[in-house]
Amino acid sequence: MEFEKVIKDRRSIRKFTSQEVENEKLKNIIDCARLCQSAKNRQPWSFMILKNESKNKVADIMLNLFERNDIDLPGYMNSSKSSANVIKNAPVLILVFREKDEDWMIGDLLSIGAAIEHICLEAVNLGLGALWIRDTVYTENEICKSVGYENLQLVSAIAIGYPAESPSQRPRKATDEILILER
Ligand SMILES: Cc1cc2nc3c(=O)[nH]c(=O)nc-3n(C[C@H](O)[C@H](O)[C@H](O)COP(=O)(O)O)c2cc1C
Repeated sequence: MEFEKVIKDRRSIRKFTSQEVENEKLKNIIDCARLCQSAKNRQPWSFMILKNESKNKVADIMLNLFERNDIDLPGYMNSSKSSANVIKNAPVLILVFREKDEDWMIGDLLSIGAAIEHICLEAVNLGLGALWIRDTVYTENEICKSVGYENLQLVSAIAIGYPAESPSQRPRKATDEILILER
């Protein structure tokens, strides 16, 4: 697909068909993440591909947060519940990790954000849809423990599958709102 069309067509997809995602496509997606630029070329990312039960386990950890009576959750955490349901409905979940290193926090997170965008754009290029999910942050430690990587930081997750919705473009600021003049 033409590059600019991929950028313009990309949407956050929250409904997927039950069609499986071909392994070849997942390989392409990870390869596009691998080729991303990174601060000092540190390539600070690790990706884990989850399907079926192991994917649903992540969603359940997120949903369990809302079953607990011992904590009063702030309202903004409610989006975690709908993100967990998207994960349940998606055929594939990619978890994105980094090694914990305070000194490299900003550079690593910027680099990983760029790599995740590569993933989301390549998904569109392959006829797939994706949702970038940060709501894993509230249960980060439990998820890391459950997949056996307590030592790593879970930065984000990406739900991927064939889209079962085609949302129109979400609102964006106009160019003159985001351009500022030098003083
Ligand atoms: C860093 C980042 C984190 C996000 N986390 C979530 C999330 O946890 N749950 C969710 O439903 N959407 C999440 N989104 C998707 C945004 O809500 C979405 O990009 C925004 O509303 C604009 O819509 P669009 O992607 O369709 O253009 C995230 C997007 C980004 C870039």
